[in-house]
Parts: sequence; C-alpha cells; structure tokens
Amino acid sequence: MERLQKVLAAAGLASRRKSEDIIREGRVTVNGKPVTELGAKVDPTADEIAVDGKPIAKQKKIYLAFYKPKGVISSAKDPEGRQTVMDYMHGIKERVYPVGRLDYDTEGLILLTNDGEFANLLMHPSFHVPKTYLATTKGVPHGTLLDKLRSGIQLEDGMTAPAEVEYADVDPDGKEAVVQITITEGRNRQVRRMFDAIKFPVVRLKRIRFGSVLLGGLQRGKYRHLTKAEVDELRALAEQHATHKVHKGQ
Ligand code: URA
Repeated sequence: MERLQKVLAAAGLASRRKSEDIIREGRVTVNGKPVTELGAKVDPTADEIAVDGKPIAKQKKIYLAFYKPKGVISSAKDPEGRQTVMDYMHGIKERVYPVGRLDYDTEGLILLTNDGEFANLLMHPSFHVPKTYLATTKGVPHGTLLDKLRSGIQLEDGMTAPAEVEYADVDPDGKEAVVQITITEGRNRQVRRMFDAIKFPVVRLKRIRFGSVLLGGLQRGKYRHLTKAEVDELRALAEQHATHKVHKGQ
C-alpha cells in the first residue's frame, strides 16, 4: 500500500505538492469514494483511482526472481543503513517488495512483487510451499544424521516437519559436504538451526528453489521477471496448499 499523493505523483499527474492540493480540494476518488485525507493508503495495482472523474492508469503488476547475495538485507529498508534488495532493483519503476525473507548471511532466490494480494497469499502461514536450500557443512554429517533431519528434529520452537534431505556433493577428504534440503516451513533461521541440532553447523547457505520457481542460472545480484506460467503456477500452488490445510482442519 502506498500514500495516495505519492501514487498520483508517480502517475505523472502533478508534483507531490500539487497532488496533495488536488486531494485536499476533494477532486480524487478511490473506488468511487471521495478521499480528502492526505495519509490515505491505496494499492496502486488494484484500486480504482480517479481525478476529476477521470481514472488514472493502474500500475502494472510485476513479479521478479532475484539472486540475493550474502550480506544484503531482504527487507525494503534497513535502519542500520546496510545494503538491501532494493539497491539491486535497477530499472524497476514500480515499488516492489520482497515476498518473505532470506537471512542476511544467506544467498539465493527471493521473489519480489508489487502485487499485494499475491504476496499475502504466498506469505500466509498456511502456505507451506517447498523451499530448497544447498547447505554447506564443515565436515560430512553421517547418513543417520540426515535421517534425523528428514523425519523431524526437535528445535526450541518444536519439532520440524518432514524434510527431503540428500547429499549434493561430498568432499572426498571429508572436509565439507553440500547437503540439499527441502523444507515446507518457514521458521526463523530454520535450516541453520536444524544443522546446528545435529552438530554440523552450516558455513554457507543458498536457496535454489521457492515453490515452482528455480534460481537456475540467474547471476548473483541480478533479477529476472517471472513468466506468466510461473506466476500462475505459484498461485495455484498457494491455493492448493491453503485448501489442503483447511481440509485437514488446521
Ligand atoms: N533457513 C535459514 O537458516 N536461513 C534462511 O535464510 C532461510 C532458511
């Protein structure tokens, strides 16, 4: 949601100052209702905004897959002034924001969009979309430990749900291993905490899949637009998971 005067200014209607005057003068309607307060928040991709009865064009909805580098904050703003994903959105005029989060020290796939409804659908707690990570561990955890991660492991906030876990690469000298893990929950620092619990801390973590979207060959620090098929598939996945949960009475 954005402030109405900002949306009017972004639509090229008038400067921000002038847009405020236009609102105060009662010339603006949102979904048919006059709005005269300056603080009003609107969804520029969905709300019908009109000035003097003339509708302004809705903002195009955009959906991006971004390869977040390590050391970048996944939220739109950082009070400590560190780099955020927004610093990488060159050429994007729309105000996009991240769907969910990825830790500062984790790299890999994160989605961004200006479609609030879509973002809410994907971030809803009932949306247990599979997310796949490559976790590099110091040393090679034994197969029985991976079984523990698969079946569920006790963390301080409860047992983890079943996960898919496989070796992706094992150093013949036993110095490190890359373990591919797919989880359907989104608890804070979950993957790192799962590996801490088996005493093989993660030294590098990379997300390579979010639902049906793959990181693929995307370069670190770059974004690409999702295809319509990818957006449709994610939406279908979210709806299917939400329905599944309701049926199970949870
Ligand atoms: N699990 C983690 O430990 N960190 C992330 O960023 C995502 C999942």
